[in-house]
Amino acid sequence: MLSPDVSQARPQCRNFHLHRLALSPQDQTEEILQGLQAPQKRLPPKLFYDTRGSRLFDTITRLPEYYLTRTECELLHNHLPQLQALIGTTGTLLEPGSGSSDKARLLLDGKHLAAYVPIEISTEYFIDTALELAQSYPGLQIHALCGDFMQLSALPDNLPPPPRTVFFPGSTIGNFEPALAVQLLRRFRSWAGPGGGLLIGVDTRKDTGVLHRAYNDREGVTAAFNLNMLSHVNRLTGANFQLERFTHKAFYNGQVGRIEMHLQSLCAQSVRVAGHTIQFRAGETIHTENSYKYEPARFTALAQSAGFRPLHCWLDSRGYFSLHYFVTDQ
Ligand code: AVJ
Repeated sequence: MLSPDVSQARPQCRNFHLHRLALSPQDQTEEILQGLQAPQKRLPPKLFYDTRGSRLFDTITRLPEYYLTRTECELLHNHLPQLQALIGTTGTLLEPGSGSSDKARLLLDGKHLAAYVPIEISTEYFIDTALELAQSYPGLQIHALCGDFMQLSALPDNLPPPPRTVFFPGSTIGNFEPALAVQLLRRFRSWAGPGGGLLIGVDTRKDTGVLHRAYNDREGVTAAFNLNMLSHVNRLTGANFQLERFTHKAFYNGQVGRIEMHLQSLCAQSVRVAGHTIQFRAGETIHTENSYKYEPARFTALAQSAGFRPLHCWLDSRGYFSLHYFVTDQ
């Protein structure tokens, strides 16, 4: 399924290495169909991030209601020297789901690392961004891994060896069911290796109104972001979703401590997807995202059960967001 092929696409840039981890389009369609044929229809959140979706997400991160990115960046800024020193104890920073690498740039500025390994599924700007990094940091080896980090159990073997620091900001870990989050953290631990680290940003539980507003912004950017998944699915599979027949729904499920995002069908309708007919009742939803929120102590316990040892946990003054640093033992 995965065919890592290392190509020196830009031989003029000697510290840049591209690895393609191709996922076949059939697997992608199969995953989409399976989700839409389940009793509670679902689509995976990675499908948010086509070109338009990545742009919309970028806009979300700057919305007044969306405190997550702003607060995490403030934490990174406030503890930068300490973070750079910690990361510097390993030679390599590895970032699954690196997007535009904006947050990593902060950490790379200290010039104490040998390599940066971004992994990103959305290829549009990824290669250019990574190449740009290679040019701005000539002393740093950039290994750009193009693909879905969830499909990647073992890393390509021509990467800089452990110890590594895994950087997983943005509360992306909240997208996974807690049991799956533990599995993913175990994998991160194996990628970090003995003497490695994990720097991870996690959204905390807080006032329900604050959470609700962060996923129901007044300008409707989050609604557009959610609905855009359907046009992405249309393009990927030749489906005929009509976006105006669905509406954005996001709410806090206090029982399990997560924001849920859904796309709700406004009427009874059927949609063609890859040769299959998908029926919708009026009001039926497609579950598009979970965003789990964790008390810092609970998240620490989760990471411990994945084999990490807690070293630091920083919170902002309101306790809205947490930044954890874990280590793996020798
Ligand atoms: C990138 C998964 C952390 O859950 O807050 C933003 C994505 N969804 N608005 C989140 C998202 C709706 C975001 N994560």
